[in-house]
Amino acid sequence: MAHIGVTGLAVMGANLARNIARRGVPVAVHNRTVARTKEFMGAYGEEGDFTAAGSMEEFVAALERPRRIIVMVKAGAPVDGVIAELTPLLDRGDIIIDAGNSHFPDTERRAAECAEAGIRFMGVGVSGGEEGALYGPSIMPGGDPVAYAEVEGVFTTIAAQVDGSPCCVHVGPGGAGHYVKMVHNGIEYADMQLIVEAYDLLTHVAGLDAPDIGKIFEEWNSGDLESFLIEITAIVLQKTDDATGRPLVDVIVDQAGQKGTGTWTAIDALNLGVPLTGITEAVFARGLSALRDERRMAAGTLAGPNPSAAQDRGVDGRSAEAPRADLVDDIRQALYASKVVAYAQGFAQMRAASQVHGWDLDLGAMARIWRGGCIIRAQFLNRIMEAYAEHGDVENLLMVPYFTRAVADAQDAWRRVVVTATQQGVAIPAFASSLSYYDGYRRERGPANLIQGLRDYFGAHTYRRIDAEGSFHTRWAQDGREVRTDV
Ligand code: 6PG
Repeated sequence: MAHIGVTGLAVMGANLARNIARRGVPVAVHNRTVARTKEFMGAYGEEGDFTAAGSMEEFVAALERPRRIIVMVKAGAPVDGVIAELTPLLDRGDIIIDAGNSHFPDTERRAAECAEAGIRFMGVGVSGGEEGALYGPSIMPGGDPVAYAEVEGVFTTIAAQVDGSPCCVHVGPGGAGHYVKMVHNGIEYADMQLIVEAYDLLTHVAGLDAPDIGKIFEEWNSGDLESFLIEITAIVLQKTDDATGRPLVDVIVDQAGQKGTGTWTAIDALNLGVPLTGITEAVFARGLSALRDERRMAAGTLAGPNPSAAQDRGVDGRSAEAPRADLVDDIRQALYASKVVAYAQGFAQMRAASQVHGWDLDLGAMARIWRGGCIIRAQFLNRIMEAYAEHGDVENLLMVPYFTRAVADAQDAWRRVVVTATQQGVAIPAFASSLSYYDGYRRERGPANLIQGLRDYFGAHTYRRIDAEGSFHTRWAQDGREVRTDV
């Protein structure tokens, strides 16, 4: 009998099944179209103890009980389709594991629906792309902890390992696993947006070409910024296009795709009232990138900064002078400080969601399991892990001394970069909004008092006073007198 099954043999499912089988665990494999199962067996059948199932019935029959079934199909209706097909074939106590990028409210609904049939449903975030799935992903399992105990052995064995610890931990009940994976992806969006803003500045302000910028990223990858995304940025920027001999990035269309997890993260932050500016700006920037035809029109119509403000620029929009080392280092520091803000915001969002949903998320453990296997894996996550170990339930990572200092040290460079980019007309939504968040967050008294005054004027929404308890309304347009409204 197979210990575990995988249905959905597109590349992620196939690689996950191979990863499990290569650890000596017998795996049943199934795909909606049988041809793909045959193809899989032909290519990888020798890698481990696989049972190929031609139908869902055969697949279920091949599994030891409680049955453990990993569903790796496209998020959305296909997941519901597989569950509907499986449910009548399963017994009470069997476990369905959705390892795709499902939206967490769907996961909560499916868990409740499956529970009615006595089936245990787990929503499990899996990060690391194709390579990760095969060699060791970061795994974020959510759902019933007793069900998790049935798959823990397999999951912790196939996960990436960092310092002897698996990048897999039970995240929490219900949709917690998919929630954390969603925020992971949101942070992935922010990380990439910050990288491309640095690339844009290095191109259009420092006047460097893609391979040179690639070398700079290579250097940056040995410092505070060391991470998978910085590492692959260096590789992508230094790749030459075979057809044209130009840097490949220069011939790639500047429209970013997206499958929705960044948008879900931003929407959820709006619903929670958590200021998540870095990730949200990253989502908007992808939206703006998609407006290629409009941008082409606007490029010939809308004015940029006047030449005296953009004095460093050459005729083609690039700097006429050699790039200044201090500019390059300023950009590095701006990238790092903005990254700290993006992570602080993402972790603050998880903290807020944990409170609202009663998930009891261990944020330090989330940082720990993101250190390896996943797309945002980075040295930096060690610092976050340490921060939570030392400072427990801190509201915002910016308040942890390590990050307080890191941002304080970088802030002058960060401000210079924002000023320069603004003067030169280079869009830096994530750099600039992160700095504004920082400046807003460190203000004891901001300007929202005026918003309250305005709201009270036009809608009698009331306000609170700094010098008295209670809620007040001023009869602005009548006699101008203030009245207390809560007595
Ligand atoms: C991962 C990735 C993975 C996928 C993203 C891409 O953690 O392995 O995040 O889940 O590559 O969903 O998302 P977009 O297509 O929205 O950029």
